[in-house]
Amino acid sequence: MKMWPGRFQQPLDPDFERWQRSFSFDRRLLRYELAASSAHARALKNAGILSSEELISILQGLEQIAEQAAASPSFLDDAEAEDVHHFVEKQLVVLIGEAGYKLHSGRSRNEQIATDLRLYVRAAIDQLRHELAEFCTALVDGAEQAGDAAMPAYTHLQRAEPVLVGHWLLAYVEMFLRDAERLADCRKRLNVSPLGSGAVAGATLPLDRAFMAQALGFDGPTANSIDATSDRDFAMEFVGAFSLIAVHLSRWAEEMILFSSEEYGFLGLPETYSTGSSAMPQKKNPDLLELVRGKSGRVLGNSVALMVAVKGLPLAYNKDLQETQEPLFDSSDTVLQMFPLVTGWMKAAEFHFDRIQQAAQSGFMNAWAAATYLVSRGVPSRLAHERVGKAVQMCIERGCELKDLPLDDLQCLSPEFNHDFYDCLQLSSVLAIHDVPGGTAPARVRQAISTTRKRIELLRQEVRTQETHAHA
Ligand code: ARG
Repeated sequence: MKMWPGRFQQPLDPDFERWQRSFSFDRRLLRYELAASSAHARALKNAGILSSEELISILQGLEQIAEQAAASPSFLDDAEAEDVHHFVEKQLVVLIGEAGYKLHSGRSRNEQIATDLRLYVRAAIDQLRHELAEFCTALVDGAEQAGDAAMPAYTHLQRAEPVLVGHWLLAYVEMFLRDAERLADCRKRLNVSPLGSGAVAGATLPLDRAFMAQALGFDGPTANSIDATSDRDFAMEFVGAFSLIAVHLSRWAEEMILFSSEEYGFLGLPETYSTGSSAMPQKKNPDLLELVRGKSGRVLGNSVALMVAVKGLPLAYNKDLQETQEPLFDSSDTVLQMFPLVTGWMKAAEFHFDRIQQAAQSGFMNAWAAATYLVSRGVPSRLAHERVGKAVQMCIERGCELKDLPLDDLQCLSPEFNHDFYDCLQLSSVLAIHDVPGGTAPARVRQAISTTRKRIELLRQEVRTQETHAHA
């Protein structure tokens, strides 16, 4: 039967009836709906609304629904269910009879959907944090394999200073570890239970909210029933955090695309993750990277769609909130699906260290080190900058590098230049300058690799603990 039969005298317009349903997309919340329903049923029993027999039969019914859904996806083909809440009620009545209608005592779908969505987002966060740890591990492995190989670091996409390849890869790890923290922060705030909030003003029965919260692995009940039934901040924060992740992935993908081009030649595209051209026989295209870059658009779009859907809503629940689900699911699916692929890509990518190292040797990337040489011999920084700039100009005219300029010519520019100047121009000397935590001196990078591995391991442990607690 319908969930609200009594007050209506006329049937719904059939097109409207179909159009307003959410079951086609909220069916994915079934496992959370069942878990929340079981917590509610147990609270109803404790409040004296259900007998022990009724409780047992409802719990068994809920379990059977879960089993049937797992056994056959077609079990969910219900053209009449308005939403996942209605579906469970209908199936429960089919399985256990009229007692099934008792489950909804004292509760509202408004608190149910708010609870189901929190559980869904929490699980997605745990899954993504795990995926982030995997991807970061692949990046750190790459950093370790790169050893002491150097590359140009770019600003304005112009060669700037040499860095270790490892240092560059670790820059991405920092972004993704921040993303993992952001998700943990969002998880902390969302992990409270709306159950017992009713439609807006609380449950009509004396239900033990702390008990229900605990049963679902929440840290406690929400503080305000109006807020609990209408709040979707957690979904917006989550989709916002996913947007940032998508942006980070997009930057990563863009750089890999550039570096794989013939012009850079820094890395070879793994065949297992590339495609050919139907027209040009020679082509190998970075489709995986391009799709990753492209999908960031829809993830960002979802974030905007969600915020705009909520922005004008008066308190508390409004049906508009149903519209927050699809952008949320789409962002979650899109980002979660990308991760195993980008991790696989990262593991399979081949870096051409000889070519990368060669690029690190030219392009006057030791010019700042050269100016620093003068500064440490008392030349004011601005003047040192100007004199080395002139030396660079001389090199451009002669088609050579700074190391090829004779000392006489250098001393005409600045008498402080001496024989030992040539040592400071060496790639290894330039790299060694940044011998501070976070710097690109090889020993510092090795240290960073090992501390980063420890941070990733901590992340893994945290995810494991949280998952165990959530599913206890
Ligand atoms: N399918 C609805 C949603 O996603 C469930 C809540 C319906 N509540 C209501 N009062 N009509 O928002």
